[in-house]
Amino acid sequence: MDRICLKDKEFELFIPEQQIREAIEGMAVEIRKDIEGENPLFVSILNGAFMFTAELMRQLDGPYEMTFARYSSYRGTSTTGRVNEILPVTVDVRGRLVILLEDIVDTGTTMQYVMEKLKSQGASDVKLATMLFKPDAMRCDLTPDYIGLRIPTDFIVGYGLDYDELGRTYKDIYKLVGE
Ligand code: IMP
Ligand code: MG
Repeated sequence: MDRICLKDKEFELFIPEQQIREAIEGMAVEIRKDIEGENPLFVSILNGAFMFTAELMRQLDGPYEMTFARYSSYRGTSTTGRVNEILPVTVDVRGRLVILLEDIVDTGTTMQYVMEKLKSQGASDVKLATMLFKPDAMRCDLTPDYIGLRIPTDFIVGYGLDYDELGRTYKDIYKLVGE
């Protein structure tokens, strides 16, 4: 599909599935190298990171511990700047290397909050792996450790990413048309 409609908005094809998968393969190579001999805890950030997490874990194909957490800072197509904790990390992170799996880092507000929180709970190190990164939107002092693809500051959906809870279920990534 080249174009999709979600509620009042139109989106056009932006990143096909194959390109996303190749980007994730590159991340898996780096992550595998860095976690050799470690006992990492992967934390997948719901809901957006579910497809990215599944693909990355298939690539890593190892005996790792993984859990889920959920935060929200988005309403519609723009950030609210405030982070709500919906499902906190319930695993004891003391002394652990934690690797956060996120769909997209935009202003960085959400991940800055989560990374600081996990460090304050005693994680020995907290790393961030994000499938997509909008460098021009960044408003925090934060650099993801692993980045799949860098993209312009467009609003996108698909491959886990939503517009008002719709569009997560497409296999390709689409970007908002116009505006
Ligand atoms: P941040 O806190 O501003 O970095 O926003 C991060 C969160 O906002 C991500 O986990 C996404 O859920 C959501 N988000 C950011 N950009 C987009 C987008 O273009 N489409 C859909 N969701 C987005
Ligand atoms: Mg998200």
